[in-house]
Amino acid sequence: MAKHRVAYLPGDGIGADVLEAARLVLDTLGFDAEYVHGDVGWQFWCEEGNPLPDRTIEMMRTTDCCLFGAITSKPRDEAAKELAPELRDRGFVYFSPIVRLRQVFDLHTNMRPCKAFKGNPLNYRDDIDIVVFRENTEGLYSGVELHPVPREVMRFLADYQPKASRFINENPDDLAITLRVYTRKACRSIVTQAFEFAKKQNRPSVTVVEKPNVLRETGGLLVGEARDVGKGYPGIELWETNIDAMCMWLVKNPQIYSVLCAGNMFGDIISDLSAQLVGGLGFASSANIGDDYALFEPTHGSAPKYTGMNKVNPMAAILSAKLMLEYLGEAEMAQVLKNAVARVIREARVRTYDMGGSASTTQMAEEVAKYCR
Ligand code: NAI
Ligand code: MG
Repeated sequence: MAKHRVAYLPGDGIGADVLEAARLVLDTLGFDAEYVHGDVGWQFWCEEGNPLPDRTIEMMRTTDCCLFGAITSKPRDEAAKELAPELRDRGFVYFSPIVRLRQVFDLHTNMRPCKAFKGNPLNYRDDIDIVVFRENTEGLYSGVELHPVPREVMRFLADYQPKASRFINENPDDLAITLRVYTRKACRSIVTQAFEFAKKQNRPSVTVVEKPNVLRETGGLLVGEARDVGKGYPGIELWETNIDAMCMWLVKNPQIYSVLCAGNMFGDIISDLSAQLVGGLGFASSANIGDDYALFEPTHGSAPKYTGMNKVNPMAAILSAKLMLEYLGEAEMAQVLKNAVARVIREARVRTYDMGGSASTTQMAEEVAKYCR
């Protein structure tokens, strides 16, 4: 029996190409795993009215973790038009499989390393080494939304918060509400993980990114927990920065930041910004981590125009595989993999199109694998 059991979900578009590339590198490293293929993505939406069939979730429950490629998502009405004719008008509504997976497996922590590898022509600077910790299941993305907003809801809200009364007379159809829901538990968990990580890696600071001067209640809760948790880590500075200023500072002085920690939406924003500083989508890896399960994926989407072309940069997927190795306790393999990636980028012999080269996805993976033997 293999040592690890990994759910393998390539999904749509370039997902298959980049996961194959990651597999090639993992196999060369001697990573001992059984991969179990899972159905997910557009095809299953069109054919079954469900982009994440139950059988896939059941299968995942028998595995240690998941390697995920990418999926194609479309707005509700567009998606409805592509359903098989016999499934139309039967109440199927498209949902994002990746958002659902984060909820089903309570993958509360999204971790995204943004490290500039020396010699990458796409680096904004060569000395950036940021790791983003983003709360992954609540905040503005909790899905608690209303449109139209019934008048009684507004009246009810106004009873508790007079500021809501100015909206009472709006036409319900002309009003939309999205709730930003924070729990103390999730706030505490995300800042604790950020500090624990900083401690493990000897990092000097954790920056909590919020807007507590305006979003007093939710922002205040997260920052309050960060201050409290931070007391337990005397060697690590806690910096508190507003999201708007953070975007400015990340462009001005990205090299002074180390660990960033934020709620769901601000975390989403700063992780894309940080990723672009170190090479963009072709390099952006991520781990979605829960208490008993984890899913590793490049942050890019399915890039439909490159489907089946074996052209895109596999580094994001390969670096996601590195995060998986660390999660599974294969620290030595993870280190070899990281060194191999660094060397391939530094030597600059093999580069995909986004880096100004013409190598294929497979060639890039083979070059990394060469240094993993
Ligand atoms: P995308 O990330 O798929 O691609 C945007 C562009 O970035 C591509 O056209 C390509 O030029 C470049 N790119 C992406 N990955 C690359 C790589 N590995 N190497 C080199 N260049 C790369 O985003 P887009 O076009 O907005 O979305 C396409 C589909 O993917 C949509 O259906 C969207 O909903 C979905 N999506 C899925 C995500 C996921 O699976 N987690 C995340 C983001 C988008
Ligand atoms: Mg995003």
